Amino acid sequence: MRTQGGKLMAAGIDDISIYIPRLYVDAADFAEARGLDPAKLQKGLGVSKMAIVDTNQDPACLASNACLTIMQNNKLSPEDIGRLYVSTESSFDESKAMNSYVIGMLEQVYGQGAFEHCGGVETKFACVSGSYALYDNTNWIRAGEAEGKAALVVVSDIAKYDMGSSGEMTQGAGAVAMLLNDQPRLLAFDPKVTATSIKDEYDFYRPFGKETPIVHGQYSNLLYMIQVRKALEIYKKKSISSELIKLESGETILDHMDYINMHLPYSNMGKKALAYLVRHEWRQLPRWKKIIHEIGMEEPIPKDPRGTIESVLGDQEYMAKDHEFTKMFTKTPEFQEVYEAKLASSLIASKMIGNLYTASLYLGFRSSLEFEYQKGINLDGKRVGFGSYGSGASAMVFSGLIQPEYEEIVKSMNLEAELGPRRKLTLNEYERIHESKLGPEESMLKPKHEFILVDVNTTTESRGERRYVFNE
Ligand code: CAA
Repeated sequence: MRTQGGKLMAAGIDDISIYIPRLYVDAADFAEARGLDPAKLQKGLGVSKMAIVDTNQDPACLASNACLTIMQNNKLSPEDIGRLYVSTESSFDESKAMNSYVIGMLEQVYGQGAFEHCGGVETKFACVSGSYALYDNTNWIRAGEAEGKAALVVVSDIAKYDMGSSGEMTQGAGAVAMLLNDQPRLLAFDPKVTATSIKDEYDFYRPFGKETPIVHGQYSNLLYMIQVRKALEIYKKKSISSELIKLESGETILDHMDYINMHLPYSNMGKKALAYLVRHEWRQLPRWKKIIHEIGMEEPIPKDPRGTIESVLGDQEYMAKDHEFTKMFTKTPEFQEVYEAKLASSLIASKMIGNLYTASLYLGFRSSLEFEYQKGINLDGKRVGFGSYGSGASAMVFSGLIQPEYEEIVKSMNLEAELGPRRKLTLNEYERIHESKLGPEESMLKPKHEFILVDVNTTTESRGERRYVFNE
């Protein structure tokens, strides 16, 4: 293992940039059109606006725009980048990788062949693949293979569900680019603790040729929490055996994470997942007795002792009681304290933007940094835990420490300014975009200093070829 002065070489996130399309659907308008109570979206799911791509944007454009921002902000040249990975579940080609499109677009700005030396692939595993890409690239740096170069990992997605489906209220779009190197200013990943869980599942999937996923919504919610919890158990064992963390009696592993970022298909899912993990961790501790006393109700137990997801979801009496118990648990001052201190700031961006699939965990991380910094908290040395989930299904739990130089980056974060002036779509406009009734030339907005899609070839010999331009 490569070391520096006897210590494992640091590697992690040096900088982070976002690109969010400027069109959005307002949750209240959407609820009215679908005959839903707006409170279900705003309070129940934590959705207030959903970013929607314009007709001249695809996930490769979003990724390229986020990459260009991070390169320009850091005055990087293509020679500084050794790898460029794109993680997505909105892929539009079964063979040609999305990072090749991104390289093509970036070379329009940096010159043809400028990225020729740069390796990379597109990665896929629903919403978790960006976390695998980060892990692999971190290890590329730790192994000394990077030879002083940095890696770019870009997570980019368009979360689009069937019209009228229950998933439609959890849409969104955007990309997050992360610059990884061996002297990260933002976050150095903790070595030897990254934990994974995996299971062959059909909670959410998108068969070949289908633009929108097939979703078993409540099943996917529960599976997410179960899989992340399994990964957390492994993380716990690894962090204790590697002596990263020493658990004193009465403590849980979550006590050793100053911040917890969860995958956010909608912002309230973060709170739901946190409550699930905290409940399972606290159940073994002396403090649980006090909590049960405060709630005034014993924790419900499913009738079927096998506890399969199907049996749990089918046990309606249990589900209703568990829902009631969870609601009361999340109102206890003990949980509220954990929620406010460790998670709440990560949910702010998600409420304003919606679901970003692979990018939603990292938009949450970005949100947490900005809004915790605004509270005046010194973030240096704080441990951030990540709970990543991808349907199908795999989870990853890992952590990192915020670095002393974090302020150089975080002080200029301004989500409102970066989102810029946004344009609210009417439901009719949204539906026309959703049904792909408009071509790239019929975009709603004029492009500003960004890559756009110009056309997709429909001839037999070149079908699917995409042409992009950079608009000054
Ligand atoms: N006022 C206030 N709150 C209300 C309300 C009202 N009038 N009506 C309902 N609510 C609350 C409900 O109590 C519920 O809150 P809790 O979760 O705290 O109980 C919340 O609003 C949602 O209500 P339902 O659970 O009844 O909503 P639903 O079943 O119609 O749809 C969903 C929710 C299953 C998440 C659906 O939107 C969906 O299928 N989404 C896509 C799948 C998804 O996001 N899965 C998440 C895990 S898988 C994953 O993460 C991969 C990925 O990125 C997609």
